[in-house]
Amino acid sequence: METLRGVRGFHDILPPQSARFAAVETRLRGMLEAYNYAEIRTPIAERTELFARSLGETTDIVEKEMYTFDDRDGTSLTLRPEGTASVVRAAIEAGIAQPERVAKLYYLGPMFRRERPQRGRYRQFHQIGVELIGRDDALADAEVIALVMDCLDAAGLRDVELVLNSLGDHTCRPAYRAALAAYGRAHAGALCANCRQRLERNPLRLLDCKEEGCRELMTHAPVVGEYLCEPCRAHIAEVERLLTAADIAYTKEPRLVRGLDYYVRTAFEVLAQNLGAQNAVGGGGRYDGLVAALGGPALGGIGFALGLERLIMAAGEDVADRRPEVCVIPLADDASVPAFQLARSLRLAGTRCELETSGRSVRSAMRRADKLGAHFAVLLGEEELRAGRATLRDMWRQADHRLALALGGTGPVLADAIRELAAAGERGV
Ligand code: HAM
Repeated sequence: METLRGVRGFHDILPPQSARFAAVETRLRGMLEAYNYAEIRTPIAERTELFARSLGETTDIVEKEMYTFDDRDGTSLTLRPEGTASVVRAAIEAGIAQPERVAKLYYLGPMFRRERPQRGRYRQFHQIGVELIGRDDALADAEVIALVMDCLDAAGLRDVELVLNSLGDHTCRPAYRAALAAYGRAHAGALCANCRQRLERNPLRLLDCKEEGCRELMTHAPVVGEYLCEPCRAHIAEVERLLTAADIAYTKEPRLVRGLDYYVRTAFEVLAQNLGAQNAVGGGGRYDGLVAALGGPALGGIGFALGLERLIMAAGEDVADRRPEVCVIPLADDASVPAFQLARSLRLAGTRCELETSGRSVRSAMRRADKLGAHFAVLLGEEELRAGRATLRDMWRQADHRLALALGGTGPVLADAIRELAAAGERGV
């Protein structure tokens, strides 16, 4: 029979990688809670219109990367390519996005984009992100950027570069768009077919084309900084002042536009040094106007998302310890029941415990415990059962301890003894 395989670009996350995901998620959640964000869980699928309206009709994501399908009643649905649109939609729907109120939400989960898979780029990937809705001041931007950097630090990623730009707003961006379009038209012959189309519909997108010719051409294109209106100029200057005061290093990147249309003013990305082509571990920015565009009140907002796969790849081998503390080994056949009871009570006492199959020789059982990396093995043979004592073998120090065993309820007692022995081992006693 033919072996069924997973879908290209969709990956299983197996141990020990899954432990790395869990450990990073726990650390990031801790940081997000410290900044007083609360978790929101939105559905994987939304109406297609939500993404078309918020990310922009002419973005790569909406034009060619969405997983879109018709539901049985004909409604067009899309697997979420990112989290911001869904969170803003949910906040409006739940009445959380309201004037005089600030919503601080974080989310974590799979996103779907039909990009060409390569190292660090998948069709299903995971993001952890935040949305701060209801603030339009520069301090909010600085806080959100500080949070990105603190999250990366908590995940063990230190060698990163923060790049920053202001994209202007509805007042000043039209003039910049016009300048960019004029530049593109003057050099249309050097643009790829895609960019020639984008030129009239959304010239800002010329700046994130990946084609070599377009990239080269755009290095000489006009920069948005020269077109900013006074309030936008003051806003980014204040963000920079706050970042500097907080000792957060950044590089100004005048051509950073990000791949989504909802951004205004502050936009940023964090690049890791060791990731190759797909080196953005995270990105975000301000999206004043998005809440109103989705039918809510006129509120500002800013947020970011980190790509968990890239983050974990960049952070390296910082693995959580998944080895069992104890391996319970029934040696005699009638040791199965007491071993089962003992393992269960150890587990209920919070000890990571593995229960071996019965009927093995001592040697092969010990080899198994060794392979699992267990710190202790509890041997339950005929002799132990008769004497009401168990042998607790410290696998790391090659020492045996005899422990009294009142079968049935000894889990916590044994768990305490194991902890004490482990602690004594660490102290070198
Ligand atoms: P984004 O830059 O499209 O922003 O994605 C954020 C991060 O998700 C990227 O920096 C990258 O680490 C990861 N990522 C994106 N696509 C892939 C992929 N195909 N494979 C693996 N990782 C990927 C957003 O999604 C915005 N919603 C962020 C935001 C929140 N802006 C404001 N609030």
